[in-house]
Amino acid sequence: MRTKVAIIGAGPAGLLLGHILQRAGIGFTILERTSREHLLGRIRAGVLEQGSVDVLGELGLDADLRERGLTHHGIHLQHEGQRHHVDFVDLVGRTVTIYGQQALVRHLLAEHDRIGSDIRFEVADVELHGLDGSSPHVSFTDGGTAGVLDCDVVVGADGYHGPSRPAVPGLRAFEREYPFGWLGILADVPPSTDDLIYALHPDGFAMHSMRSLEVSRLYLQVDRDESIDDWSDARIWDALQTRLGSDGWTLHEGAITEKSITPMRSFVVSTMSHGRLFLAGDAGHIVPPTGAKGLNSAIADVTLLGRALVRSIRDGDEAGLDGYSDAALARQWKVQQFSQWMTDMLHVHREAPDASARDFRYRSQVGQLEYLFGSRHAQESLAEQYAGLPF
Ligand code: APR
Ligand code: PHB
Repeated sequence: MRTKVAIIGAGPAGLLLGHILQRAGIGFTILERTSREHLLGRIRAGVLEQGSVDVLGELGLDADLRERGLTHHGIHLQHEGQRHHVDFVDLVGRTVTIYGQQALVRHLLAEHDRIGSDIRFEVADVELHGLDGSSPHVSFTDGGTAGVLDCDVVVGADGYHGPSRPAVPGLRAFEREYPFGWLGILADVPPSTDDLIYALHPDGFAMHSMRSLEVSRLYLQVDRDESIDDWSDARIWDALQTRLGSDGWTLHEGAITEKSITPMRSFVVSTMSHGRLFLAGDAGHIVPPTGAKGLNSAIADVTLLGRALVRSIRDGDEAGLDGYSDAALARQWKVQQFSQWMTDMLHVHREAPDASARDFRYRSQVGQLEYLFGSRHAQESLAEQYAGLPF
């Protein structure tokens, strides 16, 4: 088998890159470890920056997004019941769109089906070879049969656990683990808010998001090693009511249809490329979800990489590919500091060494939020970053 670009992973990064290449008439094959059903069942991020929406529009991939996406003009920030609206439109003239990663993956896959893309699901034993030379190739097993895919370029869009990152010799990782995670639920109840609510409370962070006008998505800060079995539906609603509560506002409860706990980490590689291999999305970096940047970073990477691949393969100009890693990482480190800042500001840091240090930390976070509520300059900075840096 031979293709121009071998893409490992059919998450949002791999699927979107396939569409960018297809539009430029460049051949690709996507190798995916899991099944189509598994891909479609994964519930993940939910906020698209305006730049991400624009990219999907330019590629003609926004039909479902236009129909089902919810345009939001800002977010609510809250500490102990005091809620403040940060209005992105007023502050920086930009919006964000609530649209689940699950819906995006469904749409990108449907469009690949329509154009007849070569996507292999449930392939095993994916290994990368010859990345230093002029004949890179990927070996794999498909339905028990061994195969080799020869290509010009390999793109590692295989997420945090995939085989691409370990194939980069001498790669370093910069990392921070948080001692907490998010317990997330989906509930069959109309959202109780217009814009998303991010709340700091002495019991821990909580947030109210949504997937549609019928389905709410809510999160609670929990300890990293907590078991979901210890969180009954009643206990979850109780904690949400306490942490999100605000005078004159009601949080409506409904049937919980999904619940899980995700640990949080910040992670960035030292390089996004090696020879003919280029990393994109979660393969190269992870953010805690507080700034809603994971999916948007994957889209930013493949937008940059797609343009560089088109320049290289169509025009023989290697400058874009040579500069890809530095350009992607420069943007990513800005995104990392924003995600860390939002996370530190809004979570309770029980890891502080004693009660006095914990109280000091908490009170300074309240000070930080109150400064933000009173400062248009500070709000502009938050709005600029949340609505998204340029691609
Ligand atoms: N062989 C083939 N495919 C693999 C392998 C492998 N050995 N290992 C992993 N994969 C696949 C996974 O099954 C997954 O479908 O690579 C895909 C990676 O997709 P994602 O993890 O969704 O990563 P990415 O496309 O970069 O999207 C990042 O996902 O985790 C969220 O918050 C994150 O929203 C962000 C987005
Ligand atoms: C979500 O809707 O899943 C969501 C929204 C905003 C975040 C994180 C997750 O910051």
